[in-house]
Amino acid sequence: MCGIVGYIGNREAYPIIIKGLKRLEYRGYDSAGAMIFDEGELKLSKTKGKVSDLEERAEKEISLSGNIGMGHTRWATHGVPNDVNSHPHLSNSGNLAIIHNGIIENYEPLKKELIKRGYTFKSDTDTEVLVNLIEEVKKNEDVKLGKAVQIALNQVVGAYAICVFDKQRPDEIVVARLGSPLAIGIGKDEFFIASDASPFIEYTSNAIYLEDEEMAIVRKDKPLKVRKIKDDTLVDPYVQELQMNLEQIEKGGYDHFMLKEIYEQPNVIKDTYRGRLHANEGIIQMAGVEDNLEKFLNADRILIVACGTSWHAGLVAEYIFEEFTRIPVEVEYASEFRYRNPIINKGDVLIAISQSGETADTLAAIKLAKEKGAFVFGVCNVVGSSISRETHAGAYTHAGPEIGVASTKAFTTQITVLTMIALRLAKAKGTLSNSDFHRYLQELEVIPEKVTEALATNDVSKTIAEKFKDAPNCLYLGRGYNFPVALEGALKLKEISYIHAEGYPAAEMKHGPIALIDELMPVVVIAPKQGHYDKVVSNIQEIKSRSGKIIAVVTKGDVQVRELADYVIEVPDTSDALSPLLTTIPLQLLSYHIAVMRGCNVDQPRNLAKSVTVE
Ligand code: AGP
Ligand code: GLU
Repeated sequence: MCGIVGYIGNREAYPIIIKGLKRLEYRGYDSAGAMIFDEGELKLSKTKGKVSDLEERAEKEISLSGNIGMGHTRWATHGVPNDVNSHPHLSNSGNLAIIHNGIIENYEPLKKELIKRGYTFKSDTDTEVLVNLIEEVKKNEDVKLGKAVQIALNQVVGAYAICVFDKQRPDEIVVARLGSPLAIGIGKDEFFIASDASPFIEYTSNAIYLEDEEMAIVRKDKPLKVRKIKDDTLVDPYVQELQMNLEQIEKGGYDHFMLKEIYEQPNVIKDTYRGRLHANEGIIQMAGVEDNLEKFLNADRILIVACGTSWHAGLVAEYIFEEFTRIPVEVEYASEFRYRNPIINKGDVLIAISQSGETADTLAAIKLAKEKGAFVFGVCNVVGSSISRETHAGAYTHAGPEIGVASTKAFTTQITVLTMIALRLAKAKGTLSNSDFHRYLQELEVIPEKVTEALATNDVSKTIAEKFKDAPNCLYLGRGYNFPVALEGALKLKEISYIHAEGYPAAEMKHGPIALIDELMPVVVIAPKQGHYDKVVSNIQEIKSRSGKIIAVVTKGDVQVRELADYVIEVPDTSDALSPLLTTIPLQLLSYHIAVMRGCNVDQPRNLAKSVTVE
């Protein structure tokens, strides 16, 4: 999720770490911390806020000399952003220090067991549990740090990039990786550790990128040895000669943050259901929902308020909730809801959806609903954001920082969270058969792999973009679950390429918009096999008979639409309800490529801000 930096060598570690953390600021974060080891002492400073705040504190709090150390920028997942929850975290003995990117899914049972064994915890983080688990293993098995980390990680479920240090063996840093990136810069008698190469590219261009389930014990005067966490087998690491410049490194080799974030979707959807979706056991586990299950089950209706892309996720949720749970749902633009003196009753549940957690209109709608006695539940991507603090309960998406102004991974992770909530409620209400419930869990579990497949449409999307990059207008059509996807596809295009685009329910064409159709009007039609397919085919025929240019998003293997459409983009098959998670992918790629071809500023489109904190 966020940033780690480590150094071991002959230079002063602190300047390298602080500068390295600044290099990682682009990843977005809420807290920062650093640890330097010198003369037998672990010197640690950490704070909520910016790296500059850390710098100010560290220079007052600790002496900065020492040749080994590590630093961290946090994107909170467990425990709000504050000084105590910032990293590094120390073990109970004070000997071990850890910095961690990722999520320890099974931290709660591990924490319970450690508390039984007398451990205490200062923070609310999952990370502090890991460092004490390592300490407990080290003590019980009487092993060195490297072995203790390896044994502990074999008890852990989740995602991590970690650096662990033992002040009793101050000539090494143990690193490990599963699901979160970790690079090791190789210098002369020195090593740099970081989430990407940006903190060390100025010192060395020789680097290895740990693969998943690999670890290493980094010692300045020893060659690097990489091992498999599972069975300790040695790995022959591939040392790369990095050619990327700083900007390319920050974007993970992609040309823009938006494209990087589009490609992060398989991983962040997995991160979002991690620890919550247990398909084999047929369980959905979300604390915020469990603790308030009765409120949801007894709701007279569910109101959903949001803006922009989050509002589109809310529309998808309306179809999902009503189909799965039979609870009436109403979706409102927060900006309209807050001013129209809406009827809000005590029996209402209001779900507020917001990536930033700072959107002024959504925040105001929440306050209004609370004043009128509704139960308010938040779906946010930023832990500790205003909306997450204002709502009675909530569930975070774990999309990680979304830097591109155009929301992409936030949309798919919001739908993932909302789908899990609807499935949990349907299970409790018995409004889904057991077999359907299990089928949806299985299908949701494999969505990341199917999103990866959908991302493979990048080239065809780029080819189509070339044909339509100069179109003055564009129409997006969809039915049912894919009507909101049509709206979202249109928003993506208009906000980054500045082409006028509109989304419509496909059946609505004959009530006016079909007058727009001619050979100059590209029409994107979302036509997956599951869901009103025959009706959408008729709509396509109506457009074709009026010379409209048709770009169709279809299910892999589709034949019928292929005969009608001018261009076809295939995505994997899935159920109607989950299809938005796949059909939206080519639309993100199409708008991205058109915007790039038009020379637009994809990551910071004109007139737009990433978070609209004003009315
Ligand atoms: C979508 O691409 C835009 N960035 C914008 O519509 C955004 O979704 C909207 O401003 C809501 O932001 P939020 O999710 O942070 O509340
Ligand atoms: N899960 C850890 C925490 O919440 C690490 C978050 C991160 O990746 O920055 O502190």
